[in-house]
Amino acid sequence: MKPTKIPCDYLGREGSRRAEILFSAIEPYLKASMTYLDIGCGTAPLTLFIDELLPPARYIGIDLNSEAIGACKSEYPHHTWLCIRSDAFVIEIHHDVVIHTGINSRRFNDAEIHGRILDTPDSGPSVVLLESGDYHDGPSDTHEIYEEIRELYRDRGFLLKREEVLVISHFPVPVRRYAVFIRS
Ligand SMILES: C[S@@+](CC[C@H](N)C(=O)[O-])C[C@H]1O[C@@H](n2cnc3c(N)ncnc32)[C@H](O)[C@@H]1O
Repeated sequence: MKPTKIPCDYLGREGSRRAEILFSAIEPYLKASMTYLDIGCGTAPLTLFIDELLPPARYIGIDLNSEAIGACKSEYPHHTWLCIRSDAFVIEIHHDVVIHTGINSRRFNDAEIHGRILDTPDSGPSVVLLESGDYHDGPSDTHEIYEEIRELYRDRGFLLKREEVLVISHFPVPVRRYAVFIRS
């Protein structure tokens, strides 16, 4: 896999090159009026693209960081933003698209919510985007979480449509790996 080098901010918000690349990776599988769950949404860098090009029927972003949720609420007041840890978020409804980018913590059992998503009665999402960062000389401590989530979707028969690497040169975990799954 040949990495693409991009200049980009980690939590680059609206219009960042990283967000643009991640959006492009899922765009072929998206339609207007889909429903989204953005896990650890931070400042929700993909939302601008989704809103502009394929307005969703519903977009829920969750994050344990109240500042990030506050920023999302003021930037995108028409969506739902919840300050909550993923393991406390109850999966009550179907989400067509699951976004989990910048997977960054082993502390909060970040993989757990995906098991519950996959156990929803109508068999889970149609599109899943995962992304996390490694070092140039080896995996970061979130690598295992990324792999664990990736394996959950593979085990349930989701098709890995794309898996690539970006390098964000000035970022502490610069080797950004992302995967796009679709339901088979
Ligand atoms: C590196 S940032 C990524 C933000 C955004 N998704 C992006 O790609 O730019 C990771 C975010 O996940 C949040 N986070 C980490 N673990 C979480 C959890 N278990 N539940 C909710 N939020 C979580 C952090 O607060 C942080 O805002």
